[in-house]
Amino acid sequence: VGRAGRVIKCKAAVAWEPNKPLVMEEIEVAPPQANEVRIKVVATGVCHTDLYHLFEGMHKDGFPAVLGHEGAGIVESVGPGVTEFQPGDKVIPLFISQCKECRFCKSPKTNQCEKGWAADRHDVMSDKDTRFTCKGKKILQFMGTSTFSEYTVVNQMAVAKIDPAAPLDKVCLLGCGVCTGYGAAVNTAKVEEGSTCAVFGLGAVGLAAVMGCKNAGAKRIIAVDINPDKFEKAKVFGANEFVNPKDHDKPISQVLSEMTNGGVDYSLECVGNVGVMRSALESTIKGWGVSVLVGWTDMYDFSARPIQLIAGRTWKGSLFGGFKSKDGVPEMVKDYLNKKVKLDEFITHKMALNQVNDTGCVVIMLQGCDPEFVPK
Ligand SMILES: NC(=O)c1ccc[n+]([C@@H]2O[C@H](COP(=O)([O-])OP(=O)(O)OC[C@H]3O[C@@H](n4cnc5c(N)ncnc54)[C@H](O)[C@@H]3O)[C@@H](O)[C@H]2O)c1
Ligand SMILES: [Zn+2]
Ligand SMILES: [Zn+2]
Repeated sequence: VGRAGRVIKCKAAVAWEPNKPLVMEEIEVAPPQANEVRIKVVATGVCHTDLYHLFEGMHKDGFPAVLGHEGAGIVESVGPGVTEFQPGDKVIPLFISQCKECRFCKSPKTNQCEKGWAADRHDVMSDKDTRFTCKGKKILQFMGTSTFSEYTVVNQMAVAKIDPAAPLDKVCLLGCGVCTGYGAAVNTAKVEEGSTCAVFGLGAVGLAAVMGCKNAGAKRIIAVDINPDKFEKAKVFGANEFVNPKDHDKPISQVLSEMTNGGVDYSLECVGNVGVMRSALESTIKGWGVSVLVGWTDMYDFSARPIQLIAGRTWKGSLFGGFKSKDGVPEMVKDYLNKKVKLDEFITHKMALNQVNDTGCVVIMLQGCDPEFVPK
């Protein structure tokens, strides 16, 4: 049962409108209501999907909002009906809920819960309301999580309790990017031992996909990116061949087909570009090739020749790496603590929230930033 609920005033980076930098504001965070948990956010990553909403998406009504959906924190207080969480618990807020009651949650085939933010596409709480206000205006909670705020309120069906030993400035990456890419390889593609894989796009999602292929026992892992600076990092996660499409005159699918005697067993698109999605499919071998869409866009249609699938290829998509969120995230935290999964190697910079508009940042510390990590 909750503490006496009071409004918390705290700092947050507010996206007032699309295509504009985020603005540091003092916001009011209401107490948690029934089945809700108020979380002190300690650290958050920046995922491309935040930038997509701000700069690329067409959802002009999804503002003003607090972005951020890759965070980790500590429960500050709980609302009525919350039995699973207590103040002080380490948690990761989830942009895809797991109510454990709906037909999707009951099926082992999917992680698509029917409830919560992801189900109805409101950039707010599950009851279509928000717990944030600023300057008298309602502020939407992007993906239901809003981790670019010192405090946030999330329904308990979208919160994972994690091992108290977990360092929050590392495991925050499991709130989106790392689970997404890793799970796309191990859960969705189901990469097999000894196989040949290609990963297109080497942001956090693609690097995690490389790590998934590696842990699944893939023999050849071909990392593809138009930015060759990404290859060094991809090597750390297990990639052993590197292709820059810009170095070739022919289509990248042809290059990969020639390198692999007909195509790769598995390809993962981690860019969010429908042209790359097609190339990734066409790079797989006929008969059994599997290509997984991980990159995000809702503005364009994809296309390919039907013969690609008729010849035995499979084209699939993956949301949050196919992980059932509440169950999967604590397991991934354990895998990190047991050194099966790398996280530290993803982090290029640490910075404070007021530096959120700077580029190249991976982890933002909401509760004090270690000055040694602040980039020049
Ligand atoms: N499906 C999901 O659940 C889910 C979850 C999180 C993120 N995403 C999406 O995954 C994608 C990747 O996210 P991220 O944070 O790693 O992004 P990012 O921007 O950090 O990385 C994208 C990478 O793709 C490379 N790239 C661009 N064009 C390319 C091309 N034509 N060929 C090869 N490489 C190319 C870029 O150089 C960059 O290294 C985004 O679209 C994001 O929205 C999906
Ligand atoms: Zn994300
Ligand atoms: Zn459900």
